[in-house]
Amino acid sequence: MKSSKKHIAEYEFSIGLRLTHWIRAIAIVILSVSGFYLAYVFVSPVITGEPVNFMNAKWRAVHQVAGFILIGCFIFKCYLFFFDKQSHIERVSVKDFLDIKVWIAQIKYYLFLGKHPHMHGTYNPLQFASYLFFYIVLFVICLTGLILYVHVYHEGLGGFLYEPMRVVETWMGGLANVRQIHHIAMWIIFIFMVAHIYMAIFNAIKGKDGAMDAIISGYKFPKEK
Ligand code: HEM
Repeated sequence: MKSSKKHIAEYEFSIGLRLTHWIRAIAIVILSVSGFYLAYVFVSPVITGEPVNFMNAKWRAVHQVAGFILIGCFIFKCYLFFFDKQSHIERVSVKDFLDIKVWIAQIKYYLFLGKHPHMHGTYNPLQFASYLFFYIVLFVICLTGLILYVHVYHEGLGGFLYEPMRVVETWMGGLANVRQIHHIAMWIIFIFMVAHIYMAIFNAIKGKDGAMDAIISGYKFPKEK
């Protein structure tokens, strides 16, 4: 039966949140392509007798620029989560995340066995758990990326971070392990991306509230209460 209730425009995500989302998404694509090159060299340089190609160094430079953009987005997004007024709805999601009843209702919804639970915040508990996990993996890939970085550049920031990063490197069992962890984190991010895009489309279609619009325009369109 068709409901007579109208859709209303509700402001969900601030411009800072949306920008960090999309800049981060682009950075991750660039990092994945360049990271793949660094792991499995898939193109060869022009053949020349002169030692001027520096193909690996060029790919690595692109990788590092995108890497620092990702690190910037990560830090700024963490700041927004704790201090941005509009991100209040994200902070309130912790309440739903800790509520077992909302977990059960949400799982039932995904299994087509019940209605979507009423939530206090903007993320459902499964979504919140997966985002939390994603941020932990992002932290790991940025940290291991920085360890790899200090072995490449020894001036400026590279020099400044050298000693502390060497300590973390030892905790991780050496540079070879750091590289493996960095690589594995990439695959976890790939799996997350597939699930994230699938769930975003699933919720937008099933929820019929323009959930995908919110990460572009900032507005979603739920039915009036
Ligand atoms: C989504 C994020 C990222 C992905 C998918 C990614 C992926 C990769 C991959 C696959 C490798 C090759 C590892 C191997 O040999 O198996 C690599 C190497 C590297 N990454 Fe990342 N990375 C990311 C973020 C970062 C960040 C934030 C930094 C920090 C600036 C960084 C710096 C480096 C460096 C310095 C290397 C080593 C290059 C070399 O061996 O010459 N990465 N990355």
